[in-house]
Formats: sequence, C-alpha cells, structure tokens
Amino acid sequence: MTRPVAFWPEAALVIRDPAPCLLHLLLLAELFVRSSPRPAHRSPLCGTFKEMVLQLISLSNISKKLHHLTDNELVSFEAVQHRLDDLPDIQSTAARFSSLKMNESLSQLLSYTRSFRLHFDWLKTAKENNSLSSQSAGGAAEHLLQLSNLLTESLLQIGKEVPPSRPPPLPPVSTAFNVLGFSVEMSNRLLVFCDWSKRVLLCLRKLDGCPRH
Ligand SMILES: *[C@@H]1O[C@H](CO)[C@@H](O)[C@H](O)[C@H]1NC(C)=O
Ligand SMILES: *[C@@H]1O[C@H](CO)[C@@H](O)[C@H](O)[C@H]1NC(C)=O
Ligand SMILES: *[C@@H]1O[C@H](CO)[C@@H](O)[C@H](O)[C@H]1NC(C)=O
Repeated sequence: MTRPVAFWPEAALVIRDPAPCLLHLLLLAELFVRSSPRPAHRSPLCGTFKEMVLQLISLSNISKKLHHLTDNELVSFEAVQHRLDDLPDIQSTAARFSSLKMNESLSQLLSYTRSFRLHFDWLKTAKENNSLSSQSAGGAAEHLLQLSNLLTESLLQIGKEVPPSRPPPLPPVSTAFNVLGFSVEMSNRLLVFCDWSKRVLLCLRKLDGCPRH
C-alpha cells in the first residue's frame, strides 16, 4: 500500500510462474507486514519537543543554584525585586493553555527564551566584574541558547518566519550586593518561565499528536 512500485516485480513473477506461487504470496505478505507497522503519522517536532523539555529541566536545576542565600537572607531581597523590567512577565502575558496555537506559542517561547538568554549573558558578566562565581549564570545562558536553537528549528520546520532578536535594556550594576539582588530575581523568574514553558510544550505535543513517551 505504501510502496506499490516496489511490489510490482513480485506480483509479475507470481503470475508468470504458478509453481512457487504460495512462496511468493508468503513473501509478499511478509513484505506488507514489515512495512505496515510504521507509525501512521509522527510529527518531526515530537523529538524536538522532548529535547526542549530536557533543556528546561536542566534550567530549573540551575535556577536553584544562582545564589546560595538562606530563606532568611532572601527576605531582605524581596523588597528590591522586579527591577528587570524587560524580562518576560509570564504571569501577566501568558496565553490560556486551552487556546494555544503552534505557530504563535513557538514564537512566544522563542522571544522569551532569547530575552532570558541575553539577561543571563549580562548577569554572567556582572558576576565576573564583581569577582563572584559566574558558572551557574553561564550554564543557564548555554542551555537557553540551545533551547532557542531548537525553537528556531521548529519554527522553520512549520514554515513560520523567525522573528528578529532585539537586545533588551539592562540596568547598570555597581556592587556585588546589586548582583546578588539580580541573581535572586533571575532565579525566581527563570523557575516560573521553566514551569510555564514545560506546560506549553506538553500542550503543543498533544496538539501535534505526539506519543506520550
Ligand atoms: C536535576 O537535579 C536533580 C536533583 O536535584 C537530578 O536528579 C537531575 O539529574 C538533574 N537533572 C538535570 C537534567 O540536570
Ligand atoms: C497561526 O496559525 C493559525 C492557524 O493554525 C492561523 O489562523 C494564524 O493566523 C497563524 N498566526 C500567525 C501569527 O501566523
Ligand atoms: C563589566 O565591566 C566592564 C568593564 O568595566 C563594563 O564595560 C561592563 O559594562 C560591565 N558589565 C556589567 C554587566 O556590569
């Protein structure tokens, strides 16, 4: 059924030489059986979605290592949060999960991912400038770059235009205390972004008819 041309010589043989007819029929039957259990439809995006979720799991892990403050110490930073105005505000802009569209959701994910990546590049430099360990921030930027490559690939695959990237405005950093405050804010907001993105990707996988595992 899938490749009729390939079976045609076999069929001709069966007709010309009736003796090994049964053998040929068995052969034909086997060929059919072998070719039929292929998945009826598997979107090329299913594998990419899986890779994206893995990147997000790594990012969630990193978000917990961006600072080493205790809960008590964190309280003093609560007041100075939300100073990175250009970082995507997931809570207020996120679309409803019931009305997700593949094209729009992938574009939105890409623009958020790029913004987080540029912020983490900046945080990494700020940490280096202030002699703080920049390893986690650098790791986050790496994973965000890989995630944005996967998203770009997916958009190209569905024939959607890839929106241009835009550098976000970033505040000046003068002290190590500043850097710590920004680390706390980025840590919290990265975690929200990861949770939200994972839920979006699970919905998109369903939308695309991907198998559960
Ligand atoms: C994330 O952290 C958990 C435990 O904290 C660990 O089991 C898991 O392997 C980590 N995953 C990744 C992808 O780093
Ligand atoms: C996204 O795809 C839907 C159809 O699934 C279409 O109606 C809509 O116009 C597309 N949006 C963009 C921004 O391309
Ligand atoms: C890091 O230091 C360089 C050189 O002093 C400066 O130009 C840059 O703006 C600083 N970056 C951050 C994010 O603090």
